[in-house]
Parts: sequence; C-alpha cells; structure tokens
Amino acid sequence: MKKFSILGLFIFLMPLGLMSQIIWQQIEAGVWKGIVGTPEKYSLLGVAGCSPLKEGLSRLPEVAIPEISDKITGNIQDGKTALCFPLQRDEQIYGLGLNFKTVHQRGRIVELHVDHYHERDDGRTHAPVPFYISSSGYGVLINSARYIKVYAGSGIRKDSPNADVARDRNTDKKWTAKAYSDAVSVLVPAEGVEIYLFAGPTPLDVIRRYNLFCGGGAMPPRWGLGFTQRTHSLFSAEQVKNETDEFERRGYPLDFMGLEPGWQSKSYPCTFEWDKGRYPSPAAFVKEMRDKGVRVNLWTNPYVSPASSIYKEMYPFSCSHTVWCGIVPDFNSEKARNIWQDKLEKEHFDIGVSGYKIDEIDGGDRHLWPDVATFPSGVSAEQMRQTYGLWVQKISYDIYKKHNQRTYGLVRGSNAGGNALPYVIYNDYYNHRDFITALINSGFIGILWTPEVRKSNNSEDWLRRFQSVIFSPMAMLNAWAKDLKPWSFPDVAEEVKDLLILRMRMIPYWYTAFAQYHFNGIPPFRAMNLEPGFNAELSIAEEVKETDLEKNPYLEAVSQEIKDQYMAGEYLLVAPMFYGEKERKVLLPKGNWYDFYTGEYAGNGETITVAPGIDKIPVFVKDGAIIPFMNAMLHTPSHGEKFDLEIRHYGKANSTYYLYDDDGETFNYEKGEYSWRKIEVKRNKKGKLMGTISKAEKGKPDNIGNVTWKFMTEK
Ligand code: GAL
Repeated sequence: MKKFSILGLFIFLMPLGLMSQIIWQQIEAGVWKGIVGTPEKYSLLGVAGCSPLKEGLSRLPEVAIPEISDKITGNIQDGKTALCFPLQRDEQIYGLGLNFKTVHQRGRIVELHVDHYHERDDGRTHAPVPFYISSSGYGVLINSARYIKVYAGSGIRKDSPNADVARDRNTDKKWTAKAYSDAVSVLVPAEGVEIYLFAGPTPLDVIRRYNLFCGGGAMPPRWGLGFTQRTHSLFSAEQVKNETDEFERRGYPLDFMGLEPGWQSKSYPCTFEWDKGRYPSPAAFVKEMRDKGVRVNLWTNPYVSPASSIYKEMYPFSCSHTVWCGIVPDFNSEKARNIWQDKLEKEHFDIGVSGYKIDEIDGGDRHLWPDVATFPSGVSAEQMRQTYGLWVQKISYDIYKKHNQRTYGLVRGSNAGGNALPYVIYNDYYNHRDFITALINSGFIGILWTPEVRKSNNSEDWLRRFQSVIFSPMAMLNAWAKDLKPWSFPDVAEEVKDLLILRMRMIPYWYTAFAQYHFNGIPPFRAMNLEPGFNAELSIAEEVKETDLEKNPYLEAVSQEIKDQYMAGEYLLVAPMFYGEKERKVLLPKGNWYDFYTGEYAGNGETITVAPGIDKIPVFVKDGAIIPFMNAMLHTPSHGEKFDLEIRHYGKANSTYYLYDDDGETFNYEKGEYSWRKIEVKRNKKGKLMGTISKAEKGKPDNIGNVTWKFMTEK
C-alpha cells in the first residue's frame, strides 16, 4: 500500500482542482521548506548529499519569509504535482538551468531535462537546475529528480485577480498573442514534491543562500585556476611530454594537461585502464609531468567496456540498457559506486592523477539509456538521467576528499545540489556569444561553465575566444579533435601568450573570488542583473521602449536583457568582443567605472561604445577596486612557495579588500587554516592614496612575498 504523510493526506483530500496553500517550515536562516503530497525519497539534493554551510548563512542579513509564501499553492492531480507561484507585474525571473540564449526567463515554457544542448532554450541542457530567482528578491527550488515542466509566467487562470481584459483583435491595437500571466506554474510528474523558498533581500542574497545551503560554492585548488591544455585524442606519453616542454620553451603558462580518450586501452565504452602502447609506464609518466610542474587530468565516460577488469563485477549493478554496448553502472547502488571508485583510485589517483573530465552523462537520447530502461536499485531511468552528472562528480570527488587533496575537473552534466562539487561544465556546441550567455546564467544556478577554445577559422576569432576564456572559471584550450596549441595562429601567438600570462598574474584575484564563492556563496562570474546600480531606471532604455509587445509583454519587468557582458570577481565588468566586431556597446551601472588597462575614467550609469583593437577585451573596473596581481610564472605556486604581489588600485575612492590565502591544495581550510589579508587604500594627509596590507595571522598560511603598489588612476 502507498504511504502518505499526514500533510500529504491533508492535501490529497482537498477537493479536486482546488489548489492548497503550502505550509512552510524554516530550516536555515532565510530558507524554508514546503511539502506537497508525498515527496519521492530520491531527490536532487539527496544525491548531491550536500550539507548547508551554516557559518556562511549566518553572515547574511536576517530576513522574514518572502511575502509570496502564503500565496504559493500545490496540488496532486492526474498523478502529478501541480504548483503555482504568483508573479507581480514588475518582476523578472532568472535561472531555470544552463540556458545559452536567454537570461530573462519570464514568459518561457521549459521542460527541465538533462541533455546535450541542442540550440533551443527549451529546458534540455547540461544542467537544467530547477531553481529560479525573482528580481523581487526570493528564489524557488524544486527538489525533484524528474523532468519538470515550468510555465514561467505563461498561462492565465480564469480566477486570476490580475488577468487582462479580453480584447478585440480586429480593432484593439493593444491585443497581444501572449496575454499577461501572473504566475509561474510547475508540473512535477510525481505524487509529491519538496520545495525550498530562499529569501533575499536582494537577488544576489538569494543566490548566496542557495549556494551556501548546498554546501558553499566549489573551491578549486590554486593550480586549477591556471591554464589547461587538452591534448589531441590519440597522443602518446611522449607526445604529451613534448608538448609540455614546448609550452615551457615558448614561455606559455601551463598548470594541467588533459588527456583525451586515447589514454585508455578502449573508450566509448571505457576500460579506465591505460593503453599500454601509448602509455607503457603510466606512473612514471604522471610523475615526470608533475616534475615539470604540470598535473594530469583524464577524460572518461562512465560506461564500462566488456574489456574492463570491473565489467563482470559491475554487471549485476547495471542498467537494463547499454550505452555503446558498455554497461551503465547503477550509481544509486553503493556496490556500483564502490567498484567504480576503487578502480579510479587504484588506476589513477594512486599514481598522482589530479582529476577528471567526465563526459557523455548528459545526452543525447539517441545514445543514452531510454526512459523505459530499468536500474536494479529501483530508481527510474528518468531519475537517473537527471542525476547521473551529480553521481559521477560526487564519486570521483570523494576519492580526492578522502585523501585531503583538492581536485578540479570537467563534467558535461549536473543539477541542483552540485554547487560545492569542483567541476566545470563544457560542451560540443561552439557559439562564442551563446557561451557568454551560458557563463552569465551559470552564476544564477550554482554551477561553473567554461567557454572553452577549441578551433577557429581565423586568428581574430581565435584571439577573441581566448580573451573570454581567461575571464572564466577554467582557462582551457580543448585540442582533442584538432591538434592545436595556443600558438597555432602565428599572427596572434604573442597576444595569446600575453593573455595566458594575464590569467596567471591574476590568480590571487581569481582565487579570492572562488573563496568568496565557497565561504559566502557569491558566484565568481555573474549577471549584470545582480550588480547594484544596474536597475530599472537605468535600463529602461530606448531599445526596450521599442520592443515589440508581442515578443515581450513584460515591459514592466525590469530592464533590458544583457546577455553579452558580465561581472567577474568583486570588481570587474567584462564585455567580450566577437569575431568581426569593430566596436560594441557596454552598459556601465551607476557608480564610477575605469578602464582596466589604463585606469582612465570610463563612465557612470550609461551605455558607452568602445572600439578596442583585436588585442584587447573590454574590461572595466569599479571605483575603489583593489586587484592583486602576482608575478608572472609558468606554473601556479605550490604550497609554501611565496609569490610577490603588485596591488593595483583603480579610481579615487578609499577602499578595503580581503585577499584570501591558504595552502592551495588541501581541505585544511575547512579546519580554519586560511587567512584573509586586509588590504586598505586611503589618502594620507597630503591627499595621496596609500596602501597597506595586514600581516598574516600567526600560524596561518602565508604565501605572500614582496608587495608593491600601483595606483592606476591617480598615478
Ligand atoms: C566529446 C567531448 C569533447 C571531447 C570528445 C573526445 O564528447 O565533448 O570535449 O572530449 O568527446 O572524444
């Protein structure tokens, strides 16, 4: 017999069609849980296994439950859960997965489904996280591992208090095909669901709470933020070593090398075993690479080849269907997790491999298991599809956690709850503009995304893509298909080198941005919409006024959609340029902004047009910004290795910045082994800007050597 919770029974007994109010229970500061029906035991947060970072949550302002809470309703109908969340006229919503074309989600209809992105923002994507944030300062998470349908401000109830009036299309110019809708409706194909409501007060606070609730943002090792090259698929150990040496000889920074499928004896499906021809002595190879200052990362997918030593043992714990004739481990079974984990640990971790790129867990339908497939643990094919990315990240990460070593890798699919897992999403799609939109959207939903460089038809596109990727979570050239190097386009080889050096010099800034992500939940790369000063007043610009009502019936709903510029770390506004562009518009929020390269004043609360040459990506800096640069190195400094700082100050304002430091490699920061160095810039009696940096606390990590100051604006 089916079991119902008391609450479930109560809701179940409500008259059909009548939506019931949800009872909310506060579970963390600013986070409430509501239940409708009987939620399934298997959920996104359950698989991710995250636990809230309470200390971080306690640093956020105290807040009351969002006003909409008592207007949210839920009901079980037709064996599914229907939910309804009210919307105000001036509300915009963000999130709902890793979308590539849209930032504003209001008015869209999506079915959230883990899949390879197929050029439509219809919910099928690598990380279809069922979380949305309102511009009014609250967020909603649906904790279900099902294909969830969301009508994000579309659909009008006949009893809606805000419904528009019926208009005559023949004569009324105000008639529109998309009539006004005042609610987000959600359909979960299960007889119950758990919902989380996050309070602000600001949309950024909502995201911070969500990230902290899921364990805090991912904390990469310091070396993870350096440059990474993925070598051609069939490279041998010798070729990889030669390429590594060539980076060194040419003076291009490099921190880790990714080996693509050819390192394995068989791939698609995989053995997880080294190919003896191309890699006759894997342990010696990994050690030699490490001696060169470069770590090794391995590509794999989780489908087990009949030629793998774990095939037989895994067989009983695998899916009814295969992928490329390899078995699909049922990771909901502890036994399957252990078999795979032991194999990875023994073959790779034990010889010094630094992490993974875990491929093909997202889609597409033609090669993954179909929805009719069964898994021995009883989890449905649909639930497994929604969570497979979380499983592979967690299983591989746990090996590193157990050995107190950080890892940083890649994965092609994820979902809600994966916030703390140090994996960056990538894909096979290759539209530079859409890659930037994805980077913006990743910041709403607690995931990381890289606009990887893979190929180009010309040196301008090549350089433009490198410019973007060095201002992203993972600075990577993925040369698996075309054997390319950063210097492959000779006429821009020096410019690319300068970019890699810039990336390296800014590691203290990026590392601090990630520490802010981890400890305070602030996404290192995020939308302009989350920036104070980017507001309706500023953004209801001409373009919006001219918007076709039919396309956008929500003129009241805050602002232009900005899809091609973003915030990076505490102070930087990055406005990438794309192949063929000679100039571009940049929207500067309120406050004084300065040019990153020259320190010159750029504007305040206005749209400017910039026309840099192809060697510059437009970047702007907030007044009072303090940006720590380190000396140029070819490999990120390891634990205990000191680096010198050049601290840059922009603008005229006095300011304070906290620079994060720890050993860069272990999880000892979880035990308090870190320091925040206070950097202050103030005017002295003569009115001249002067900087100070606090000493490292006694007994705390201290990697900082000599410090020099550069006042970019007041030289
Ligand atoms: C693709 C992946 C590429 C590359 C390739 C190797 O699925 O997206 O980045 O790793 O596999 O076969």
